Amino acid sequence: MLNDITFCIVGAAALVWLLQRLRVRLQLSRAKHRSLTGHSKMARRFARLVPFYEYDEARFFSADAAPGAVAARRRAGFMRLAAYFAEHFVKSAAATAGIVDAVSDLQFTSRYRVPFQFSRFVREHLKAGAFVEASSGVSITDLDGNRFYDLTGSYGVNVFGYDFYKECIERGSARVRDLGPVLGAYHPVTAANVRRLLEISGLDEVSFHMSGTEAVMQAVQLARYHTRRSHLVRFCGAYHGWWGDVQPGVGNPLPARNTYTLQELDPASLTVLRNRKDIACVLVNPLQALHPNAAAPGDSTLVDSGRSAHFDRAAYTRWLMQLRAVCSERGIVLIFDEVFVGFRLARGGAQEYFGVRADMVTYGKTVAGGLPIGVLCGRRPYMRRFREDRPADVCFARGTFNSHPYVMGAMFEFLERLDGETIRETYRNLDAVWDGRAQLLNSKLAAADVPVRVVNLSSIWTIRYLEPSCYNWMFQYYLRAAGLALSWVGTGRLIFSLNYTDADFGRVADLIVSAARAMQGDGWWWADPQLTNKAIKRRVLKEMFQARSFSPLGSISSPRIK
Ligand SMILES: Cc1ncc(COP(=O)(O)O)c(C=O)c1O
Repeated sequence: MLNDITFCIVGAAALVWLLQRLRVRLQLSRAKHRSLTGHSKMARRFARLVPFYEYDEARFFSADAAPGAVAARRRAGFMRLAAYFAEHFVKSAAATAGIVDAVSDLQFTSRYRVPFQFSRFVREHLKAGAFVEASSGVSITDLDGNRFYDLTGSYGVNVFGYDFYKECIERGSARVRDLGPVLGAYHPVTAANVRRLLEISGLDEVSFHMSGTEAVMQAVQLARYHTRRSHLVRFCGAYHGWWGDVQPGVGNPLPARNTYTLQELDPASLTVLRNRKDIACVLVNPLQALHPNAAAPGDSTLVDSGRSAHFDRAAYTRWLMQLRAVCSERGIVLIFDEVFVGFRLARGGAQEYFGVRADMVTYGKTVAGGLPIGVLCGRRPYMRRFREDRPADVCFARGTFNSHPYVMGAMFEFLERLDGETIRETYRNLDAVWDGRAQLLNSKLAAADVPVRVVNLSSIWTIRYLEPSCYNWMFQYYLRAAGLALSWVGTGRLIFSLNYTDADFGRVADLIVSAARAMQGDGWWWADPQLTNKAIKRRVLKEMFQARSFSPLGSISSPRIK
């Protein structure tokens, strides 16, 4: 009898426990974005199944079943561009060809500029080269003496213009020259940097690293150490560097077992944060405000015109406030990863811009005046790497080059200039200036009747395409020929430095419009009126199935699709 009762109690308790686990697991599923980007495991599996195939030359120009006359116009336009590239980028292209087989980075970036079905033909004919030799004002100059307006922003490092950074590096180097590359000990400028960073971040302690990736790693390690919880939460599509735990999907050969990828701007994610006991920290990359829940928009995935972007400052601010509240309530460390947006949106970064304070903030890219850097600022309870009462229980993080004197020297110059009147004035009008410029360009694009628009988060822009097309990635080459330098992600991200004058911008706007007109004139945006983005995606999927079935075992094959 007693045994039966015990059995019932234990059984009931086990059932309650199971149901509770199931509820929490369901909450997690509900908080995932429905795209593949929101499902890291599935995305990795899918990526492994995608077979290589490419279009033959005829199909290259008529992947959308365009009529022969349109394909011929495209071919003529393409060959004209190819001739232009061959004539104007001789030395830069030759220098690139000379090292590409030995530099894995270059092989990767050149391969992933456009969707893989088109990639080889583009690589063979449109060789712009990866070398440049000078920068000045808002332009860079390649080995052939071509000057381009710089829209690469040097991955976001270039906030104030290249001349500004040259000055930071030169003056900073002069400041620390007597010490030279002595590591371990600090140069005195470091103390001033620490004071300024704490004032800017409003936080208590700082640690220096060599890259943004390392600063993020350190933030997450410390959050795990102090909360004694295992998991980090990142939001769908957000980039936080290339460390495995923040890159749980495609790009990481191993599964990231201690990472939850949740949907941004979604109450279901707040429910997860409220109910799970294993969450150490939430990582927010405020750049996602431009394209919530979507990965960084690169042209290599631009198979249709489905790229979307829209910045709603009020909505994102509300979201950050909700995150702040739930993190405080649950003892979860809220980390703003400002490696990209820090110092670009406001002097006090995203914290100031959105009016929400984090427990930890990472900075990088621009903050060392153009030299390699990662900085972590945090609240004192989260920054300590040891425990007073458990001397052997430490959280280890060191780096040979952390606080390198030359980096600290250039950082000193950078932070000092931030307080100058010129920069303060730049920050005062920032959004008005860049929103106005985006509007101006959009009205020019509308007047030219081209299916292209821009969307911006301050000086970070992306290009949207209005009509279904599988050729939008060609636009990057028309822009290049027009004298505009884009990074390897192409039209997904244009980054302006804040020293662009209205006159510079006006010139860039006109070049973008004329490049769009040229591309339109060459027929790339011809479309069957029935064509939809969904139909394009469906066709690509069908091609993938076809390509897999070319090989008897379904292994990767390289058929040419005609
Ligand atoms: C938000 C964010 N975090 C981290 C990183 C990684 O920084 P790094 O490339 O210096 O390692 C980046 C780089 O683009 C970034 O944009």
